[in-house]
Amino acid sequence: MSQDTVALAFSGGLDTTVTVPLLKEEYGYDEVIGVTVDVGQPASEFAEADETAEALDVDHYVVDATDAFADLLMDAVKANATYEGYPLGTALARPVIAASIQAVAEDVGAGGLAHGCTGKGNDQLRFEAVWRQSDMEVIAPVRELNLTREWEIEYAEEKGLPIDSGNDGTWSIDSNLWSRSIEGGKLEDPGLRAPRGHLRVDRGADRRRGLVEIEFEAGVPIALDGEAMKPVELVTTLNEIAGAHGVGRTDMMEDRILGLKVRENYEHPAATTLLSAHQALESYVLTAETLSFKEQIDDMWAKKAYQGLLASPLVDSLDAFIEDTQTPVTGTVTIKFEGGQARPVARESDQGVYSEAAASFNTEAVMDDIEQGDATGVAKYHGFQDRLAASIQASTDVGEFAAEDISTED
Ligand code: ARG
Repeated sequence: MSQDTVALAFSGGLDTTVTVPLLKEEYGYDEVIGVTVDVGQPASEFAEADETAEALDVDHYVVDATDAFADLLMDAVKANATYEGYPLGTALARPVIAASIQAVAEDVGAGGLAHGCTGKGNDQLRFEAVWRQSDMEVIAPVRELNLTREWEIEYAEEKGLPIDSGNDGTWSIDSNLWSRSIEGGKLEDPGLRAPRGHLRVDRGADRRRGLVEIEFEAGVPIALDGEAMKPVELVTTLNEIAGAHGVGRTDMMEDRILGLKVRENYEHPAATTLLSAHQALESYVLTAETLSFKEQIDDMWAKKAYQGLLASPLVDSLDAFIEDTQTPVTGTVTIKFEGGQARPVARESDQGVYSEAAASFNTEAVMDDIEQGDATGVAKYHGFQDRLAASIQASTDVGEFAAEDISTED
């Protein structure tokens, strides 16, 4: 293969399907290879991509990036990462997918990298933030040729392209280990209640496991109910258990990078559970000031993740801070699934910044040399400045003085 080959981010969906002939007709490439990256989407999606690639006579590569993606998810847990309440599944996956596609393109000596994103969303920006570091040509036919869904369907029909499988235009789904995102189609009406059945885990799920114990080591979840698990297995298992209880469902208006507000539906049971457990443990083992300062750091980390710009000097610095705070985040949190929530109900750690003797209503002393009575002096000072300000205002009678001062009568 050669410079005349272009590597396309390939899902087998409508956009990537019509992109294949366009890369030849409009951009002059001789050969298109399709690359599908495994970030934990359902097996049916690979089958669909494979079938479509075969029908299009495109060489199809599948790259397993589940471990790399899951490692990044563990960083997201340490950073308590959410954007406007959404745990960033699509956003975190894109740079991993982009890097995997680029690696294949380099292997085959391709000259170009292409995606099927429109010019309205975030994913075009996330892909290209990675690819534009290479010296390959970056191509976005749907955006550059200003294509609409309607035009694509017509073009596909004209050309006899395979677009039947899973492409009825009801909505667009993006699934991976961390979340399943549903947008577009009928959901573009924010006032429309999403119909039943558009969520993956709905009826008939096994709700028997209502309580789980998650063990963390230095901020990373490492075991579920006492059984050691690697990140991929842990996340997959929790998606099943927590998903059965309807945990991690979000229906929101989301502010995209370009400023567009869009309606999004998400499912993210494992993410919600792990983030809730991690935060419960942090609140036990970190000091109040570390917790409140870390909120700002976490917030910036999540913004950069949403933008697909985690590879930046700022994020390296944020990571250094986050990493330093996580040493004591070691212990176990019990989560109860109830009413669609993942609620922490118990935590254990020998790193807790907590003394039962100090906090208890049943003991007199706080610590060896601090008595309950020592708080009297603190209580006298507390609010002193406000009391002083109130008494000064009362004695100077500001209202009358001002009225006299502006009088112009004599
Ligand atoms: N709006 C989300 C984001 O930018 C998800 C986009 C996912 N794409 C989809 N076809 N459902 O992170």
